[in-house]
Amino acid sequence: MTILLTLAVLSAAALAAWGLTMRRRMTALGLKVDEHVEAAKSQVVEIQRLQRMQQDLKESEVFSRAVFEASQTGMMVIDPRTCQIMDANQAAGEILDVDADDLFGELATTFVPNANCNLLDIPAAETINHEMNMATASGREVPVLRSIRLIDGDQTKLAVVSFLDISRRKQAEAEIRESHEKLEQANEELKRHKDQIVQSEKLASIGQLAAGVAHEINNPIGFVTSNLGTVQEYMESLTTVLKLYEERDEVADDQAEEVASLTAKIAAAREEEDIEFIYSDIGNVVTESLDGVGRVAEIVTNLKGFAREDSQQLSAYEVNDGVDSMIKMSWNELKYRCEVEREFGEVPTISCHTGRVNQVIMNMLVNAGQAMPEEGGKIVVRTGVENEEVVITIADTGAGIPPDVLSKIFDPFFTTKEVGSGTGLGLSISHGIIQEHGGRIEVDSVVGEGTTFRIILPLTAAPVEELIG
Ligand SMILES: Nc1ncnc2c1ncn2[C@@H]1O[C@H](COP(=O)(O)OP(=O)(O)OP(=O)(O)O)[C@@H](O)[C@H]1O
Ligand SMILES: [Mg+2]
Repeated sequence: MTILLTLAVLSAAALAAWGLTMRRRMTALGLKVDEHVEAAKSQVVEIQRLQRMQQDLKESEVFSRAVFEASQTGMMVIDPRTCQIMDANQAAGEILDVDADDLFGELATTFVPNANCNLLDIPAAETINHEMNMATASGREVPVLRSIRLIDGDQTKLAVVSFLDISRRKQAEAEIRESHEKLEQANEELKRHKDQIVQSEKLASIGQLAAGVAHEINNPIGFVTSNLGTVQEYMESLTTVLKLYEERDEVADDQAEEVASLTAKIAAAREEEDIEFIYSDIGNVVTESLDGVGRVAEIVTNLKGFAREDSQQLSAYEVNDGVDSMIKMSWNELKYRCEVEREFGEVPTISCHTGRVNQVIMNMLVNAGQAMPEEGGKIVVRTGVENEEVVITIADTGAGIPPDVLSKIFDPFFTTKEVGSGTGLGLSISHGIIQEHGGRIEVDSVVGEGTTFRIILPLTAAPVEELIG
């Protein structure tokens, strides 16, 4: 029984051990199966991934091709060693007047005038861009913006060339250049016309002043002429006496009677011709004449300084001298209407178009004179420097300007003067001239009391365009 029991226990243990072993084996086997299954699964995944990649690649190729073909930019793939075209898109064919398919195998250099095949010289991974002309199959030259890039792979070397037809842009540029030139020409013409208007306004004011200027010149001319007549008479008297002296000098010393007679004649002639008076007077006559001629010369200089067309010339301007000279020039226009007071301060020399600045001062002086009431009045002309600016003030005690007129006085052709006496350009031109010099004109006016114009110029009063240029 014991034996039987022992056997039974033993067999039960053996069975259990076998079962354990079997279970272990089965587990190992199960694991291996799992591994295989897993491996197979990942292979499937990998295959699917590769398939997707292949699909993507295909799509991307189709997409790239579509982009390549649809592009408006001409594109070529070229063998850089031989310069043979390996591929070209539609746009390339259109730009080069050839069927794109016919480009295959052609030499790319055929389409570039005087070109060598030097694509291999291009640094890899660098894109070269430049504008150039390409020669089409039909012999036209087309301006293009060309880009070249060398693709230097392990297996293959390729050059990708793209070129954009820029004929339209070039044409537009040429048109813009042409219209710019036309605009510049028109501008020049306008400037010339403006200069002409300024000059004619100046000549018009000379016309206005002409009678006065003629009178100013006539006066000294009158007395210089009369003085010259006197000098001529003096010359005749002196010559008469001088001839008697010469006669006496020629008579020999031993002919005492003859000498005495001539000496008496000389004394009588001196008396008759009033030589003593001539001696005392001739100096005055000459000095007075020189003074008269000097006055004429000054008027002519002022006139020339004023009339000169100096739009091109920039010169040193002594403000006080300039203002004084303009007062003198307009004096005849002013002297019967008003008195003129000068209050000149210290003003440095400035650089400007002197004739034009004079023209402004002249116009303001004449305007002030014309604004005077019947009973007359006063013009005070001041010069000075304020806040680093030259200020020329022309203040009159004339009629004044009503506010509604004041806003228009700088408008071209605005005048309140009767037809034929004013063009209405004076202040408009003056405004332009002073503005050109980087300055400004200020005006204050009270009706019945008078008007004050202030011409303000920078100390460096060169015309603005010249300062910039
Ligand atoms: N000092 C002043 N007093 C009163 N009014 C003035 C004065 N200066 C200018 N004006 C007014 O401004 C107007 C325009 O002056 P502007 O000098 O431009 O032309 P104009 O003197 O009328 O003609 P032009 O100068 O061409 O001979 C004048 O007609 C006048 O009405
Ligand atoms: Mg005027």
